[in-house]
Amino acid sequence: MTEFTPKQVRTSTLKQFKAEGHHFACLTSYDALTAAIFDEAGIDVLLVGDSAADNALGYSTTLPITLDEMIPFGRAVAAAAKRALVVVDLPFGSYEVSPEQALESAIRVMKATGAQAVKLEGGIRSAEQISALVAAGIPVMAHIGFTPQSVHVLGGNKVQGRDESGAEAMRADALAVQAAGAFAVVLEIVPATLAAEITAELEVPTIGIGAGNATDGQILVWTDFAGLYPGKPRKFVKQFASLRQDLLQAASAYRSEVAAQSFPNQAHSHE
Ligand code: KIV
Repeated sequence: MTEFTPKQVRTSTLKQFKAEGHHFACLTSYDALTAAIFDEAGIDVLLVGDSAADNALGYSTTLPITLDEMIPFGRAVAAAAKRALVVVDLPFGSYEVSPEQALESAIRVMKATGAQAVKLEGGIRSAEQISALVAAGIPVMAHIGFTPQSVHVLGGNKVQGRDESGAEAMRADALAVQAAGAFAVVLEIVPATLAAEITAELEVPTIGIGAGNATDGQILVWTDFAGLYPGKPRKFVKQFASLRQDLLQAASAYRSEVAAQSFPNQAHSHE
């Protein structure tokens, strides 16, 4: 099969990928350097996730991050990405109150960052917000299953939709966000068989994280995929690099060379 390689990934490209059975890769990014690297590698979607809360700002959940804090991350990623579709998360507290609140927040993100879309969490409960944004010309990625902004209601990072009523509710959420106009749906920590059923049922692409391999696309948080965290990764994370180990080794080598005055040497010094 010849691969479809667009010059610029758009929301319509993801639909085309789904129609052609091409499984696409997405990563989070919060800065210009990683965004440029992932873009060059052909990652199709760069999500400026509110996971910047824990990954960049040191919060313990995604709840505290604000719209003001999200904007510089979004601007950096959008400026660096040449090909990838850039999507910025609407943080907790910036869209739940009303469709009007969601619209104000999304307009701000679109104007200030140069991103091409926003993402928000919730199925049926967020459908009115999604409709309002789409009607105003703002593409929306939906996010259902485990929704980190609701961690305290969901009782931790748990698999969602395991029993029949949970699965039924998730199918209804997926159909509701599609009907509201979302161009793609993230399915987080969902049983693989349920994710496969929802993927087959929806016309819009699904993007899985901890949802098996049948979703149309996959997404990982970049610090997870690059192995920046100590300890055993969560079940659904595969570490494609060992950056924590590399940086530890590099930092201790640097420290030793400074102590031994072998860095800087002549090659790194000006005459
Ligand atoms: O903020 C984020 O990183 C996300 C992904 C987990 C999909 O929403």
